[in-house]
Amino acid sequence: MDDNPLTRPGVAHPDITDPDIALLVTTFYGRAREDDLIGPIFNRAVDDWDHHLAQITDFWSSIMLRTGRYSGRPLNPHLRLPLEPVHFDRWLALFEQTATEIFGPEIAHEFMIRANRIADNFEIAIGTLRGDLRTPRHSV
Ligand code: HEM
Repeated sequence: MDDNPLTRPGVAHPDITDPDIALLVTTFYGRAREDDLIGPIFNRAVDDWDHHLAQITDFWSSIMLRTGRYSGRPLNPHLRLPLEPVHFDRWLALFEQTATEIFGPEIAHEFMIRANRIADNFEIAIGTLRGDLRTPRHSV
């Protein structure tokens, strides 16, 4: 039994659809861009929002539905950004709120198990490059 939700085979939940994932992504990034804390980071770094949203939709489709549409290196762009733990906390809070509104708490939980792990992976990798020792804060 594979207990890591990022590598376990099969869909995360039978009621999740690709159109709903696309709605989650457009709604979430619409809010993230306007957020007082993380909005400025996105708005400085993203040149082509259509491309970013398509990439992120493929990313979540691959994670939740195992469609294989994303095969990039998700960590890379984050290593160049001025990201601190507080930014990840805000990202996750906004993502959870949006996922709960669109899918309800049960499916939102499935998204959050995965989002928390990925955010921790990013946070720890960024910390390591800067010489800070960090431990998982969201996925334990
Ligand atoms: C405050 C936190 C975050 C900020 C400010 C941020 C910002 C960004 C930016 C600026 C890019 C590059 C976009 C472009 O060049 O068009 C990016 C790419 C991406 N982000 Fe984030 N991000 C954050 C957290 C996360 C988290 C928690 C996840 C996943 C759970 C995530 C998933 C991705 C993915 C999959 C990509 C595309 C990578 C690629 O294939 O190039 N991000 N992000």
